[in-house]
Amino acid sequence: MKILVAPSILACDFSCLAKELKRIEAAGADLIHIDVMDGHFVPNITLGPNQVAAIKKSTKLPLDVHLMIKKPFKLLDSFVDAGADIITVHVETVPLTNFKSKAKALNEKGVRLGLAINPGTSLGKILPAVNFLDFILLMSVNPGFCGQKFMPIVYKKIETLRKYFKFDIEVDGGVNSDNARRLISCGANILVAGNFIFKSKDYASAIRSLKHASG
Ligand code: DX5
Ligand code: ZN
Repeated sequence: MKILVAPSILACDFSCLAKELKRIEAAGADLIHIDVMDGHFVPNITLGPNQVAAIKKSTKLPLDVHLMIKKPFKLLDSFVDAGADIITVHVETVPLTNFKSKAKALNEKGVRLGLAINPGTSLGKILPAVNFLDFILLMSVNPGFCGQKFMPIVYKKIETLRKYFKFDIEVDGGVNSDNARRLISCGANILVAGNFIFKSKDYASAIRSLKHASG
């Protein structure tokens, strides 16, 4: 599978966001990962649909919107209208009985819908939605902040999922060039990285080091 790198703009310099978006695009990013936090589901507040719309104007890359909010289904349309291409909701926040119809409605608009799982949530939770998923996002930190320490518990989850499913597996939290090789060999194919990329001097070489970690 092709390895995609999704820089998490939460870690960028927001005082010059448009410039950061251009730099990261030129550096070879595949997607722009946007962390939306509400201060309820996670202990931090970030941005909403207006800011996503502003980001859309400053990049040609697809927007990968990660909703860490309590009632994500209420806001799906706002994020689609703002320009989201990919939307992730947390399995801890939504009733999966609705998932099929939500995924269908988004797919008809050309948007992909996936489920995210916290480190402490068991994979079995996603089972009711597994046939309607476009992808899974496995958290390798407890969501809320960038720059946290990677939790190796995610390796086993990736392997288990990859054994049964062909959909994209995205990993988010503490990803860097030390753990990327193992993440990819377990079966992950989308790597989100915040601090590792934006705190580096050379975005292009940071992205390359993740993409080519498989050797
Ligand atoms: C954590 C966010 C992540 C985070 C990644 O709640 O979902 O996307 O910004 O940043 P790093 O790679 O620094 O952990
Ligand atoms: Zn994220």
